[in-house]
Amino acid sequence: MPSHTFTVNGRSVTVDAPDDLPLLWALRDLLGIRGPKYGCGIDVCKACTSHLDGEAVRPCVVPVAEAAGRDVTTIEGLADGDTLHPVQEAWLEQDVAQCGYCQPGQIMAAVALLKRTKNPTDADIDAIANVCRCGTYFRIREAIHSAAAKMA
Ligand code: FES
Ligand code: FES
Repeated sequence: MPSHTFTVNGRSVTVDAPDDLPLLWALRDLLGIRGPKYGCGIDVCKACTSHLDGEAVRPCVVPVAEAAGRDVTTIEGLADGDTLHPVQEAWLEQDVAQCGYCQPGQIMAAVALLKRTKNPTDADIDAIANVCRCGTYFRIREAIHSAAAKMA
């Protein structure tokens, strides 16, 4: 079985797994990192959104071999110790979450968006296209605008 070494949330990890095992499976089942959620497995729902070298990816469609030597960040690695990321703070202030299932992916997508675009429009926000079955889209928009203002 091949070994794959990469960094997750600042910690070096090695997993033994077939090259084509989805990174999401490695994170959740082999490493016990359960923030990235499984919804569809085909890059549609985006519940699993995490970062690979700082960019948003869907680990359900990233083979674990592609992560070798790279930096993976999940929702668990976003805060700096006890200090929440401004996007997480904005999420709490706007009381965004309902059932919560999609929210780790929503937050990781929002953080990546704000890296690319300091002051996103509603259209930019809607384009991230993470699905929320609870329909929290309005509060997500408000939280991203609020986080953008905090980070300006
Ligand atoms: S689980 Fe739906 S996009 Fe990854
Ligand atoms: S908060 Fe329930 S799916 Fe988004």
